[in-house]
Amino acid sequence: MFTLKTKIDTSSPEFKSNRQQFLNLLEEYRDRLKSVTGGGSERAVKLHKERGKLLARERINLLVDRNTPFIELSSLAALDQYNNEFPSAGIVTGIGVIHGRETVIIANDATVKGGTYMRYTIKKHLRAQEIAMENHLPCVYMVDSGGAFLPEQDTVFPDRDHFGRFFYNQAQMSAAGLSQIAIVMGSCTAGGAYVPAMSDEAIIVKEQGTIFLGGPPLVKAATGEEVTAEELGGAEVHTSISGVADHFAENDTHAIQICRNIFENLEPQEKQLLETISPEDPLYDPAELYGIAPVDLRKMVDPKEVIMRMVDGSRFQEFKAKYAPTVVTGFAYIMGFPVGIIANYGVLFSESALKVTHFIELCTTRKIPLVFLQNITGFIVGKDFERRGIAKDGAKMVHAVSNTNVPKFTVIFGGSFGAGNYGMAGRAFNPRLLMMWPNAKISVMGGEQAATVLSTVKIDQYKSRGKEPPEGEIEELKNRILAKYEKEGSAYYSTSRLWDDGIIDPVDTRKILAAGIATSLNKKYPEQKYGVFRM
Ligand code: COA
Repeated sequence: MFTLKTKIDTSSPEFKSNRQQFLNLLEEYRDRLKSVTGGGSERAVKLHKERGKLLARERINLLVDRNTPFIELSSLAALDQYNNEFPSAGIVTGIGVIHGRETVIIANDATVKGGTYMRYTIKKHLRAQEIAMENHLPCVYMVDSGGAFLPEQDTVFPDRDHFGRFFYNQAQMSAAGLSQIAIVMGSCTAGGAYVPAMSDEAIIVKEQGTIFLGGPPLVKAATGEEVTAEELGGAEVHTSISGVADHFAENDTHAIQICRNIFENLEPQEKQLLETISPEDPLYDPAELYGIAPVDLRKMVDPKEVIMRMVDGSRFQEFKAKYAPTVVTGFAYIMGFPVGIIANYGVLFSESALKVTHFIELCTTRKIPLVFLQNITGFIVGKDFERRGIAKDGAKMVHAVSNTNVPKFTVIFGGSFGAGNYGMAGRAFNPRLLMMWPNAKISVMGGEQAATVLSTVKIDQYKSRGKEPPEGEIEELKNRILAKYEKEGSAYYSTSRLWDDGIIDPVDTRKILAAGIATSLNKKYPEQKYGVFRM
């Protein structure tokens, strides 16, 4: 492979100004992250600790192998919604390593509304389970939850992808040999009781964990029986009488140790083989990405400048370098793992779509994971391009992206607009992970384009009635649309709604992609079959 050479002067005013603007964004991102990682209110945290319980993230830290990273997902879920009363949507999820085995960990945060589930708690829990299913990973549930957030029952209870889906997924995963382990560290009420009940093995903590279908107030209301939570479904009851839980733990730390012990005798995992090499740092410092990341999306950024700060030794075997240069394709290694990279350098033309389709075929045949680096305004529009069949060429790319059987990883490092998002493995195309940089933007089109389209439609409506728009109306419409797109296009708006798996510092991109690829090896990459490519 050839070593890429930068064309960027890191001492230029342009680089320095971009870097400064990006660092401001990064500071905002870190502040926001800090505002959620402490969990709920000070009062709730204090009470939680006084009960002798560890916080959700402390529990996870003890569960995972020392000196291994925990890839936390969607930390900023529910941000700027519900008066910010649900930091991280009240649940911590991610991929951690337990006894050398990548595992999905789902931990309720009881300091946030008693660990109850509102719509984004549900979405986050289900997304974590989906990651487990896609990558063939065991799951650990650290349960400490009052169940459904009752004021929001219509957004959490009845639909397919609501609460009930947790248990369906657990049954499916257990049947597929993905171990389901629950540690009951607090409440486990009503539907929540099925998390341990549906698990392969369950641990429960003395005088903290409770499991019951109806809590004491409900029992009293229904039958008149007066009973304490401990008598109804405490650790003693469930490990010695009902058998709903299997292991009695003295406290959180003990429970976590039991869980780690369980991992010692799980079935060995058959892995997908990849031809890896010794990991190597990029030749160019990844921190230089701060000066390169597209803060101003109107400015073109050569994606090779990004790639060379992300891949081992900054080496890149470019494919079709001279053909369709608005998309860059090629092979590289990330922390020793082979990858095929597809990165945007402008709009997608027919040739770009064909080049990507060809490249995806190569990676699929060679069983090399794909990395999509999105900074895309969309597919080209216009009479000539329609006549030359951009729609059918774009469709080939979408076929290839949809059906490729190698794992895909998507990083939105700039804009993600229109069908470009789809062709470049957006959320609907099941990338194993989809991450955004803090500067990233996502929407159906850019705000200015949307404002122009809608004002043109409005002006045409008036014209067809033989009228002119009243003064100021078009201006007002344009401003309203621009403001809406500005707000809804932000990476924070996206991550709050789980359209992605999280916002990341560009410097961490390499580490997260490598962890994603390592995780994907737990499931063998299947043989390939494509659909019909319209020629
Ligand atoms: N729906 C909505 N909010 C709930 C809730 C629920 N099911 N359960 C608890 N909360 C809220 C409380 O109103 C409180 O909110 P606040 O911080 O704004 O005051 C917060 O969660 C903490 O509850 P609190 O009872 O003060 O904390 P706790 O740690 O002593 O007890 C629970 C937590 C979950 C054990 C207890 O609140 C409980 O038993 N809740 C009812 C659970 C239930 O019956 N669920 C049925 C689901 S189908």
